[in-house]
Amino acid sequence: MAYETIIVEIEDEVALIRLNRPEALNALNSALVRELAGALTDADRNDKVRAIVLTGSEKAFAAGADIKEMSQKSFVDVYSQDMFGTEIKVIEGIRKPIIAAVSGYALGGGCELAMICDFIIAAENAKFGQPEINLGVIAGIGGTQRLTRFVGKSKAMDMHLTGRFMDAAEAERSGLVSRVVPTAKLIPEAMAAARKIAEKSQVSVKAAKEAVNRAYETTMAEGILFERRNFHALFSTEDQKEGMAAFLEKREPQFRDR
Ligand code: HXC
Repeated sequence: MAYETIIVEIEDEVALIRLNRPEALNALNSALVRELAGALTDADRNDKVRAIVLTGSEKAFAAGADIKEMSQKSFVDVYSQDMFGTEIKVIEGIRKPIIAAVSGYALGGGCELAMICDFIIAAENAKFGQPEINLGVIAGIGGTQRLTRFVGKSKAMDMHLTGRFMDAAEAERSGLVSRVVPTAKLIPEAMAAARKIAEKSQVSVKAAKEAVNRAYETTMAEGILFERRNFHALFSTEDQKEGMAAFLEKREPQFRDR
């Protein structure tokens, strides 16, 4: 499928999706967000894809929503169109794992998009921020909620109220990213992580993703019950028998996603 604002490649059962608006540091305009939601939906449905990596360029993952496109919009425009709302719900609903591989700027909607992914691997040159306050607005696709859950109230308030950027070391220290890698190794490391996920049983991968995400939606007791029921349910799969037999026989498992 030909896209104008993203590039999609499938390699070793991993879909690598690159945001590609270099002239605007990958700012999220309506075309990009629409194409991204479409490409992720296709990847989710494609049996040849078992994990997804979302990245930008070395200079920018994404520098936020496109300010040029937004600048003249009124309240009625953004409210009536629910700016990016439909597409973001689609992205939040993708069931396969999505790794955000962040190099350079991940600002505003770019930082929020990275946080919607399942985890973030950052290059050493990554810079995260929610600078919407400098434009007279606030985050609009989950930044006040997700950043607060990742890094806690004090740091989230600092980021949203001052608009300052966080470097990769601070992002790792505060739990926003899972690991930091040398900038030149970002894509190989993210692809290796995705391939590692692709080797697992897709049934348990989906169950793990759902169960971790429940932690953001429910109480501890309900979340643990959700986890336990899914843990129990996985004993109905062939892959559970295969995984445990392979361990006992000291060999690699051959999962069949059943
Ligand atoms: C449109 C953008 C852009 C953006 C950069 N560009 N960010 N265009 N929307 N968000 C464009 C610039 O206008 C410029 O185009 C080109 O990309 C290169 O950017 P420079 O500013 O010249 O680069 P540099 O000096 O290196 O500074 C990089 C930067 C800065 C620090 C990232 O560009 C910046 O502050 N950008 C805005 C970041 C921001 O405020 N994001 C939040 C947006 S609001 P020209 O044509 O001049 O070369 C948001 C709300 C989300 O995200 C809610 C959604 C519902």
